[in-house]
Amino acid sequence: MSTLNPDVLQNGSVKNSDSINDSHELDEYDFSRFVDRPRLLNLERQRSCDERSLNDLPVPFSPHQSSRADNFGRALDNPDSVYSPIKKSGCNTPMSHFGYGMMASDPHPMIAEAWDDLRRALVFFRGQPVGTIAALDNSDEKLNYDQVFVRDFVPSALAFLMNGEPEVVKNFLLKTLRLQGWEKKIDRFQLGEGVMPASFKVLHDPIRNTETLMADFGESAIGRVAPVDSGFWWIILLRAYTKSTGDTSLADKPECQNGIRLILSLCLSEGFDTFPTLLCADGCSMIDRRMGVYGYPIEIQALFFMALRCAMLLLKHDGPGKELIERIVKRLHALTYHMRNYFWLDLKQLNDIYRYKTEEYSHTAVNKFNVMPDSLPDWVMDFMPVHGGYFIGNIGPSHMDFRWFCLGNCIAILSSLATQEQSSAIMDLIESRWEELVGAMPLKVCYPAIENHEWRIVTGSDPKNTRWSYHNGGSWPVLLWLLTAACIKTGRPQIARRAIELAETRLSKDGWPEYYDGKLGRYIGKQARKHQTWSVAGYLVAKMMLEDPSHLGMIAIEEDKHLKPVLRRSSSWTA
Ligand code: GLC
Repeated sequence: MSTLNPDVLQNGSVKNSDSINDSHELDEYDFSRFVDRPRLLNLERQRSCDERSLNDLPVPFSPHQSSRADNFGRALDNPDSVYSPIKKSGCNTPMSHFGYGMMASDPHPMIAEAWDDLRRALVFFRGQPVGTIAALDNSDEKLNYDQVFVRDFVPSALAFLMNGEPEVVKNFLLKTLRLQGWEKKIDRFQLGEGVMPASFKVLHDPIRNTETLMADFGESAIGRVAPVDSGFWWIILLRAYTKSTGDTSLADKPECQNGIRLILSLCLSEGFDTFPTLLCADGCSMIDRRMGVYGYPIEIQALFFMALRCAMLLLKHDGPGKELIERIVKRLHALTYHMRNYFWLDLKQLNDIYRYKTEEYSHTAVNKFNVMPDSLPDWVMDFMPVHGGYFIGNIGPSHMDFRWFCLGNCIAILSSLATQEQSSAIMDLIESRWEELVGAMPLKVCYPAIENHEWRIVTGSDPKNTRWSYHNGGSWPVLLWLLTAACIKTGRPQIARRAIELAETRLSKDGWPEYYDGKLGRYIGKQARKHQTWSVAGYLVAKMMLEDPSHLGMIAIEEDKHLKPVLRRSSSWTA
């Protein structure tokens, strides 16, 4: 069983660092001020972490256009203009015991409650905090909600980092790294060395008074799928920790460098692939059940891209690291081209698909994946606004999954997989399809739901994933932090503010559910756990980022000027 420690504050187990927020000059949130006045944000950062760019390597590059958003991106990674909380920790002003010392003078009452929940969710191993339990709901069958999930811990970790409490994040990174080193077998089959666990828990032996860790790499998970996203989140979190604390010594440890290499060697190995995207089984990420997300799902591709970008910043340029960096650069170039061109959908592209010819042979084919125009669902024709666009759910042979997936699109913005133009188009889409994607409770995990015959075929008649429920068009409060981060990166914080206000009308009253159901997300999810930790942490992270947008730096990456810009359909497809 996991140890829940409600006495965290009293017993001092959670380190209270000395950090404070000295950015209150930016009292009234104004993105343009933030962008235009980098001198205010004049803080130190370790060069080794964030200045490595693809231009450190000899790959042909194309020119880059500068813009406002680009300036902001640069501010995130430029050592002279980056605001880094590490500087705050030098100020010797203790933060609030309740964990909202960084918030505005009149914080929303939900914030204190959320911090309380988050701290109660802490899991301890041999006296040290090592993660947060998935849900604090004792009213229902636990299943695996009493475990620390790698993906679920990310918003918790960001909340702790933003609050100047990096210790639990460091412990988590080191513990999961140890778990990666385990020999992993399902029946008689051995999993790849680099696989990171989906989740782990602490087992107590009351007789011998010992504690051990037990991890699940997919062998116990419903559906028996290994979590492809865990390793990517681990790398992304390591970079967030490094960026936020300025402590490069963790990432520089030989075991961390090796951990990164093992994760990436699972993805960069040569095989039969004809695409630079990653081929996956259904349910290998946040949507961890059969939902027609096998093949090349956007969530994994976006996380893959982000993890590659983060690894570039973290890997040492020594022998094995150098060779890996070269492989990463090549893959990033190919992946960027593929995603920006083939996954991108806007009105023009939709119209092109609508008029596609099929059965084209040879490299001159326009309809490269032989997609049948008849497979275009009716809803997408209505859904696509005049201004706006998004990365579709999946692409494979004769297959385009036109569904909108929130996580993949937000990560595409944060990692700069999306160009600035594409990022703004995604935000335009969210604004113009507010009712569909946000409705009464942010935010739809995917849109639209699948139903009837299609639901039977695609989900295998899954009663948990009925239309507009859970992974099938349900609304997940955890996604608020991703939306908020994407809003800040694109300079549109008012969208996040609107979404947060909506969440504030219900989240706490409803007991912080895992998800909501219904076309508009008006119902607490059929089987949603209450006091779901990532719903709590997602809210806190969203609030802290809006309050102090410089936090975005730990989870966003600027566009690499050396990655080829998107080729417009018209020219690329006729070239
Ligand atoms: C559900 C979700 C998964 C999450 C887990 C723990 O299985 O689908 O994304 O990690 O619960 O909260």
